[in-house]
Amino acid sequence: MEVVIVPDSAAGGELIAEAMANLLRRKPDALLGVATGSTPLPIYEAFAAKVRAAAVDASQARICQLDEYVGLPSGHPESYRSVVLREVVEPLGLSESSFIGPDGTADDIAAACEEYDQALVAAGGVDLQLLGIGTDGHIGFNEPCSSLASRTRIKTLTQQTRKDNARFFDSIDDVPHHVITQGIGTILEARHLVLLATGEAKADAVALAVEGPLSALVPASALQLHPHATVVVDEAAASQLK
Ligand code: F6R
Repeated sequence: MEVVIVPDSAAGGELIAEAMANLLRRKPDALLGVATGSTPLPIYEAFAAKVRAAAVDASQARICQLDEYVGLPSGHPESYRSVVLREVVEPLGLSESSFIGPDGTADDIAAACEEYDQALVAAGGVDLQLLGIGTDGHIGFNEPCSSLASRTRIKTLTQQTRKDNARFFDSIDDVPHHVITQGIGTILEARHLVLLATGEAKADAVALAVEGPLSALVPASALQLHPHATVVVDEAAASQLK
């Protein structure tokens, strides 16, 4: 695992956007796995700016989702499908057909999870997967104690994660309790994992993930198992590293 310390989130966004651009220069139809939440927004802004400036051609890029709330009506502005369309797909000028994600509105959620794992394989696998990290060390929505071999499945959000995500909703009561998330085993199949963490609130989780023992208690520590994992942290998020 390589750890890169950058001065701030804008620098982290720029660095990762350049890695994504380099990938597309080598492989124009690369499958880019995207995360939601606040942390990756500087990546998406920097990447869209490169596309607008014609520094990279993203017209053949394909996008896939990491996770999705269960039970939010289709088109809800905070469903991760809506968020990824708004923050990534539309700014890049891509069509909805270039984008795959799990169906959080399916009647049979277990089948939707299995179908999504199969869709990722059928798409040739994820070339570069962006990740954030939860204050409790989650990646995707693999909360502590998730199996390190897990596949895409339904998970219950911890109260801490619902509190952390309440800022996107009118109140915490509106934050769904369940999500579909790529499993840790699924995430580890991506060819390159890139985790961005910014801000002091992430410092403990980053230190445990990078320097602690491999443990299901800290799902992000699974990156230690991956042959090509890059952790980009700003100085605040790096503050607990030895
Ligand atoms: C979201 C996701 C989560 C977030 C994490 C950090 O798709 O997979 O693991 O990356 O909860 O969220 P922020 O960036 O909002 O602090």
